[in-house]
Amino acid sequence: MTILVTGGAGFIGANFVMEWLSGADEKVINLDKLTYAGNLESLKCLEGNPAHVFVQGDIGDSALVQDLLQKYQPRAVINFAAESHVDRSIHSPGDFIQTNVVGTFHLLEAVRAYWNELPEDARTDFRFLHVSTDEVYGSLAATDPAFTETNRYEPNSPYSASKAASDHLVRSYHHTYGLPVLTTNCSNNYGPYHFPEKLIPLMIVNALAGKALPVYGDGQQIRDWLYVKDHCSAIRRVLEAGRVGEVYNVGGWNEKPNLEIVNRVCALLDELRPREDGQSYQEQISFVTDRPGHDRRYAIDARKLERELQWKPAETFETGIRKTVQWYLENQQWVENVQSGSYRDWVEKNYDGRSA
Ligand code: NAD
Ligand code: DAU
Repeated sequence: MTILVTGGAGFIGANFVMEWLSGADEKVINLDKLTYAGNLESLKCLEGNPAHVFVQGDIGDSALVQDLLQKYQPRAVINFAAESHVDRSIHSPGDFIQTNVVGTFHLLEAVRAYWNELPEDARTDFRFLHVSTDEVYGSLAATDPAFTETNRYEPNSPYSASKAASDHLVRSYHHTYGLPVLTTNCSNNYGPYHFPEKLIPLMIVNALAGKALPVYGDGQQIRDWLYVKDHCSAIRRVLEAGRVGEVYNVGGWNEKPNLEIVNRVCALLDELRPREDGQSYQEQISFVTDRPGHDRRYAIDARKLERELQWKPAETFETGIRKTVQWYLENQQWVENVQSGSYRDWVEKNYDGRSA
């Protein structure tokens, strides 16, 4: 048996592929374009593992995707591939439309053609799992109930609008063509291999480098944080037992204002790697101009996933954030290679000179 994962060199995809292959030997075909966010160094531990087949390419390249589907005959496709950073979507929305909307459309078309030709049993068992975000539901007021799967879509950034469009396309391929799809909408992830442009890794990396810790606006925006491995276990569970055509919200019941997150990261660093001058890393916090259109609050109601599929996160925020800070302290080389850009040479370093 084989699965095809897209975006498996990114933060969540890489964690997913490593977890998957640590628990089973079912082959993973990993299709990733290796944008700035794709990092094969994160998958170093899979070097030489015949169950991991990496292919550099675009989900929007129909011919390539069709070839991979024909060649490897996967029983499922799990779509992580996306442009994922809200701030980048404000500066350059075009890439988000191209990958998240047009790319997902081409991927769905290739998968539909493949699925149509499968024998009856394989057609029934096949799944297309689309990994999406809570941001499609928009922003909550302080006392609003958390997002359920029936909340109206109200995306506010080019990123969330492009993810919302992809969710709608996925839904339509089920309703119109019967493609057996599943969609997950997850809250903010954190953990190992997180690119240091996002809040938590940026704060850790900047703190250690003696740089400012830029908090947008008043720092009172609320996000609902989930340790990345818990997101991966939820995806595995939905793939295994989710009802076809259904949407599952994934979250950790961990709503926290950004400033509290930054203070927690500082406190952990004060404990684990104190500053030489004896001051707290909190001294480095700097309030900066807010993100345009900044959503005030996200919160996920994950009861459907808990009730129907008996999924529960394994980590609390306290255990997860400690593991994360420790991981960054122990993996300074990974951080340095990202910062210097040398992680992008990994492909040549690793693959040049290998015969096909
Ligand atoms: P990421 O930016 O770290 O990784 C995205 C990966 O997709 C990269 O490896 C990149 O090279 C690849 N990619 C981009 N465009 C591609 C294309 N056209 N074809 C093939 N590969 C391409 O993102 P992430 O944080 O790992 O997020 C993965 C998915 O989960 C995304 O769909 C995102 O919307 C969703 N999500 C993320 C979070 C979060 O907190 N990070 C939360 C909920 C949902
Ligand atoms: O909610 C799920 C989403 O979470 C995912 O769909 C996105 O792919 C993922 O990037 C994340 O989006 P956010 O915009 O919430 O994550 P980010 O880490 O960029 O920011 C988290 C919060 O911290 C947000 O309110 C903005 C704020 N922030 C962020 C940065 C990078 C700062 O205050 N300072 C910063 O420097």
